[in-house]
Amino acid sequence: MRIKLVIVIASIIVLSCNQDVTPTQGLITQKAMVVSARAEASKIGSDILEQGGNAFDAMFATEMALAVTYPYAGNLGGGGFMIYRLNNGEIGALDYREKAPLAASRDMYLDSLGNVIPDKSTVGAYAVGVPGTIAGIFAAHEKFGSLPIETLLKPVIALAENGFTVTQKQHKRFIKYDSIITAVNGKQTPINKNVSAHTIFKNVALAETLRRISKNGRDEFYKGETADQIVRFLNQKGGIITAEDLALYEAQWRDPIQFTYDNLNIISMSPPSSGGLCLAQIMKMAEPYDVSQYDQNSLEAIQVMVEAEKQAYADRSYYLGDPDFVNIPIDQLLEDNYLKNRMTNFSFEKSTPSNSITYGTLPNYTMEIRETIPYQEHEETTHYSIVDQFGNAIAVTTTLNGAYGSKLYIDNLGFFLNNEMDDFSSKPGVPNVYGLLGGKANAIAPQKRMLSAMTPTIVEKDGELYMVVGTPGGSTIITSVFQTILNVHEFGMTMHDAVNAPRFHHQWLPEEIRMEPNRFDPKLLEQLKAKGYTINEERTPVIGKVDAILVLDNGTLEGGADSRGDDTAIGF
Ligand code: DON
Repeated sequence: MRIKLVIVIASIIVLSCNQDVTPTQGLITQKAMVVSARAEASKIGSDILEQGGNAFDAMFATEMALAVTYPYAGNLGGGGFMIYRLNNGEIGALDYREKAPLAASRDMYLDSLGNVIPDKSTVGAYAVGVPGTIAGIFAAHEKFGSLPIETLLKPVIALAENGFTVTQKQHKRFIKYDSIITAVNGKQTPINKNVSAHTIFKNVALAETLRRISKNGRDEFYKGETADQIVRFLNQKGGIITAEDLALYEAQWRDPIQFTYDNLNIISMSPPSSGGLCLAQIMKMAEPYDVSQYDQNSLEAIQVMVEAEKQAYADRSYYLGDPDFVNIPIDQLLEDNYLKNRMTNFSFEKSTPSNSITYGTLPNYTMEIRETIPYQEHEETTHYSIVDQFGNAIAVTTTLNGAYGSKLYIDNLGFFLNNEMDDFSSKPGVPNVYGLLGGKANAIAPQKRMLSAMTPTIVEKDGELYMVVGTPGGSTIITSVFQTILNVHEFGMTMHDAVNAPRFHHQWLPEEIRMEPNRFDPKLLEQLKAKGYTINEERTPVIGKVDAILVLDNGTLEGGADSRGDDTAIGF
């Protein structure tokens, strides 16, 4: 008996140390799937599809269900980006990023000596950008939706009214952010440390807001009673967003970034997100090194990947901003020779120091910055991926920026407001909360959109839909998407394993590889250090929460829901 027990324990130890663990697949479905940060949101999205709705209908319902169940990042008070690919191969991108208010100015977060005032761009009413989410989901629905808004919002309103079960992870976040949320709001909000796991959380105020939106449409949020309440509330709290700011907000359809990598065609978000462009640069710089010849997360693979990442993030900090305000040389930045030259100093022998890297030079390019909007427009983050039963796919990343955004909660409306203004560069050379640097291309101006790293992405293989992928994680979003695609394409992992594999990240400055703690072999860390790399396992203990869908060879779908969160795949 005892010998048997010893053998069993010994084999468990051998198995858990063995790198070649058996691949695990995520949920497999025949036709359709929604993968999001909450089971309730994925279920509502999937039910909408089962009722005959398409991916855009499911987007509307899933996004609002996340606002109910995942106030950490799901939102009405934030913004996002969506990439779509229709079943006929047509692709596109929707930008519903927040904008700087009309009263915003370049130096609004600096004191009289020109120093950045701590917390001013991250906490409270002054940090809030004009929200884009409601405009975004209505724009997507108007163009492609098929079911009435009332049908889409009905289950979401019921969820807000009847409540959902608080998870263990959610309760931990309620405790972690309790004191700051209370400090900002001056009293205890419904989101607080006393809301324990396994209890039912109801949000009647949000149900009421959603009911008005269901009845009055998009303008309820931008011009109606909800708009009035937002403006009045922000005014009292020292914010600068006016009724005009809300009334002027429009989501924008944009052309996505598109590039090839081996036999893959990758479609991702264009500026004002840096996601697609940086992902394209990184993948094109890495492509010639054929990382499939190395093991996944091996020394060599990591070296190729982080060196490409450093170069791309250096370009990002100089060239990228809102395309309505700055001329971004997209084609030149993606040119083969340009990217080849960026990697000329790469060596497997040692790390290329970040201070020897700067943005690349482009002949015949002069940056032109506009201070005001060139024309009057008329017309903590979470990601979800949807494939519908008709073969349409969407990748959506949406955010309040920080956890619970600015922490400012509108009691009467039932939601938090973003602190997206911090994604602007408050001052050249001074990093934002993600440690990202920016220059004049991403300086604050009225009506301008702040640069993002969000990277909702759709991958085609040999011309067919292959993967839908994206993640939260601030500056680590781009590199998390990069690793997930390579994990499947180069290292043959299942979608589930690709999403759950340990992750690392380099963003040029600061000069460090951020790595998830205790998930990499200590020997590998020593080898990297010996090559001159600085390892930081504390800065970002959880890198991304990737939610993805893979189309398998037989046409079925495999979900990859990140176990770092409560993320769940549901479909049929
Ligand atoms: O747009 C961006 O890049 C950031 N505001 C995203 C923030 C984020 O991912 C926070 N989640 N962990």
